[in-house]
Amino acid sequence: MGKALEGVKILDMTHVQSGPTCTQLLAWFGADVIKVERPGVGDATRGQLRDIPDVDSLYFTMLNHNKRSVTLNTKADKGKEIFVKLIKECDVMVENFAPGALDRMGFSWERIQELNPRMIFASIKGFGPGEFEDCKVYENVAQCAGGAASTTGMLGGVPLVTGAQIGDSGTGLHLAFGIVTALFHRETSGKGQRVECAMQDGVLNLCRVKLRDQQRLQHGPLNEYSQFGEGIPFGEATPRAGNDSGGGQPGRILKCKGWETDPDAYTYFITQAAVWGNVCDVIGKPEWKEHPDYAKPAARLPRLNEVFGAIEDWTMTKTKFEVMDICNPLNIPVGPILSMKEIAADEALRKTGTVVEVDHPERGPYLSVGNPVKLSDSPSEVERSPLLGEHTDEILRDVLGMSEEDIASAKAEGAV
Ligand code: COA
Repeated sequence: MGKALEGVKILDMTHVQSGPTCTQLLAWFGADVIKVERPGVGDATRGQLRDIPDVDSLYFTMLNHNKRSVTLNTKADKGKEIFVKLIKECDVMVENFAPGALDRMGFSWERIQELNPRMIFASIKGFGPGEFEDCKVYENVAQCAGGAASTTGMLGGVPLVTGAQIGDSGTGLHLAFGIVTALFHRETSGKGQRVECAMQDGVLNLCRVKLRDQQRLQHGPLNEYSQFGEGIPFGEATPRAGNDSGGGQPGRILKCKGWETDPDAYTYFITQAAVWGNVCDVIGKPEWKEHPDYAKPAARLPRLNEVFGAIEDWTMTKTKFEVMDICNPLNIPVGPILSMKEIAADEALRKTGTVVEVDHPERGPYLSVGNPVKLSDSPSEVERSPLLGEHTDEILRDVLGMSEEDIASAKAEGAV
């Protein structure tokens, strides 16, 4: 079966996490992703957080599957010459350098358009146009500037960043969507276009329910937040809401059997209104089904601590998986808090290719996350990340048609 993006050539100038996530997705869908790296240096993550000396880190390998690596000094004259050929040859160029870096190399959007009017030029920056447009940005800065940190954490505690990389990987996802949209548009327009995604904007897009709550605050307290039932007044901004559900169905993280020794013996429990009767039965409170203080969702909101306290009295008698086994047939939405150790061993995730074992010539087998998006006719196979410059010769020869002599002279000049 053909791959969905087969035939699309991506000039991948990305590094660290945000850009590489985007190009990895495109590579999984079958695009030919040519990763350009500085000779002798490469993507900085190759050497960061190493677990095995002198071997590409898991940080790098898990973000650069299915790509080819070419080394190229895009600041040297000969390197620029080769880079121009790559720009003319490719459909999409993706980069996430610090603001201005490509311009300093001599490759502005105007120049790229001149060289290849069909080129889709996609960039990630920390901020969009405005006061902070020149700033370098990493994951946690984006989480803070995008509104996530201010709305994450316990009420009264410090703002918290989350383990999910919503700034980097989240923005990479947004950019991939922008690129395929521009590719689709090029089918009719015949022209490329610029695709930009700021990490602050990507995070905010994922935090829109908190901007929703900011506006609701003008019309009264947020009565589905636990602090409402606790009588704690609301301030001027959307507060941190601990583990409260962000939607209209109250939920919390509750202790399960073994919580005293197992840091992940917890379940998320949602008191969905449609199955309230089942919740009452399962926790041994059938009288709450008709009681005016508990029967209707609005009546329960001021007493969520009491409600979840009673549910937790029950969940603490069961393991997190027993809670699943009992609640699922009753249509009560619950979910175990799974540790990374449990996820790594999860057979179902292995079967669907969401967790995959990949072999690497230098590090041996390692686990990675496969493509979370499944296409029925274009399945993704995860291939190992390239070694630095592994495909330099083949790309210069096969993609750019350079002669062996030319390649040798580019090498002698230190351009590749
Ligand atoms: N040949 C020659 N030079 C190259 C090169 C190549 N193949 N690839 C990169 N370089 C140069 C760049 O041109 C730049 O040089 P300059 O500063 O002289 O113009 C230099 O390498 C470093 O690039 P830069 O992007 O500034 O890297 P950094 O390590 O200083 O900053 C980030 C890293 C992530 C903070 C920054 O790239 C950034 O803010 N990116 C945008 C937001 C983003 O994606 N952040 C999340 C990353 S996960």
